[in-house]
Amino acid sequence: MRYVNGLECRECGQAYPAEPIHVCEMCFGPLEVAYDYDAIGNAISRETIARGPHSLWRYKPLLPIEGDRIVDSQAGCTPLVRAHNLGRALGLRNLFVKNDTVNPTFSFKDRPVSIASTKAVEFGFDTLACASTGNLAGSVAAHAAKAGLRACIFIPADLEPSKVVAAQAYGPTIVAVDGNYDDVNRVCSEIADRHRWAFVNINLRPYYSEGSKTLAYEVAEQLGWRAPDHVVVPIASGSLFTKVWKGFRELAKLGLVAGVTTRMTGAQALGCSPVVTAFDAQTLTVEPVKPKTIAKSLAIGNPADGYYSLRIMKESGGVACAVDDGEVVEGIKLLARTEGIFAETAGGVVVGVLKKLAASGQIDPDELVVAYVTGNGLKTQEALAGALIEPIYARPSLRAIEEALALEAPAAASVA
Ligand SMILES: Cc1ncc(COP(=O)(O)O)c(C=O)c1O
Ligand SMILES: [Zn+2]
Repeated sequence: MRYVNGLECRECGQAYPAEPIHVCEMCFGPLEVAYDYDAIGNAISRETIARGPHSLWRYKPLLPIEGDRIVDSQAGCTPLVRAHNLGRALGLRNLFVKNDTVNPTFSFKDRPVSIASTKAVEFGFDTLACASTGNLAGSVAAHAAKAGLRACIFIPADLEPSKVVAAQAYGPTIVAVDGNYDDVNRVCSEIADRHRWAFVNINLRPYYSEGSKTLAYEVAEQLGWRAPDHVVVPIASGSLFTKVWKGFRELAKLGLVAGVTTRMTGAQALGCSPVVTAFDAQTLTVEPVKPKTIAKSLAIGNPADGYYSLRIMKESGGVACAVDDGEVVEGIKLLARTEGIFAETAGGVVVGVLKKLAASGQIDPDELVVAYVTGNGLKTQEALAGALIEPIYARPSLRAIEEALALEAPAAASVA
């Protein structure tokens, strides 16, 4: 059964076959996958999805896969946590955290890369490549290893050491470029024009980005097939943000949820907040910035989907909000100490924004809110340097430990 009609220009609507292309030849607009929703509607229901695998592949008819072979890292189906403790701390009575830190390579990037690597195999590529702000590197390297593809990964040279190791482990070629992500992305676009490689977020971007829709499907299914009232989503390029929205809308179109009135709110770090700046100025034109923030995974100064994200905020009644690096660190600690979830800096951005919007009344205390926490704290440990309670060092004796912890010996202590 074919569910994909082809690709379509988001600007002028020009149709293209489903090939490894990403830009409209007529107007240079971005291409997007177009589906046959009637065929999909005949193929899926809440019941067929429930019977599917415990991974994002349970939504396969809604993903742009045409062959039988999938590159399966079993990404997805991550916990949706009822965040009572964090909610109490923020004055939100109906708060959930989508904990996407527990994917196979510890970020939501395993979702888009599952699709992109599967398409790379379908299209007959032998090299899987990417321009990464950190998490994509590890995910591409892992999926290439699983699929038997060569991996070539481009990163800014100043990435967090744990993110580099978390990619190196899978044996890819890594090119650390002397520049920021926007420089890396530009040079990768030039490479993609000259060499037949599957750049997951360049020539395979229309397919890659569809994988992020599963973050909407899962949340709706986990809520008993309803869309949340309000979501907070981190924004780097804005791809995740636009695809969460597309995912909810598709579910409504297919009758899998009753309707969608979800307010879409975007979260950025103040040191790289071009979308927030545009939102505050009430314009859809995003002015590129030079990033300077500890939230390196979100450090894209010229976000490809910034304009589309702003349109969605406007249409859905959401907002854009930024927090500074100190608030990012506080956000990481607050989430860890209330819910036992250790997020990376992007998660700190989301929790910081949630806190700010709850305090200012821009999130209603009774709204059903979902905060998307998309990456794991073990990869950005340096962000917490000097911000945590130090261990108490002690010699291995009962006395030394009682002294160190200022414990009184129990009064009635006796040996039986
Ligand atoms: C942990 C994490 N969250 C969110 C994002 C935002 O992704 P997007 O570029 O789709 O906006 C990224 C991007 O790399 C990321 O690594
Ligand atoms: Zn076009």
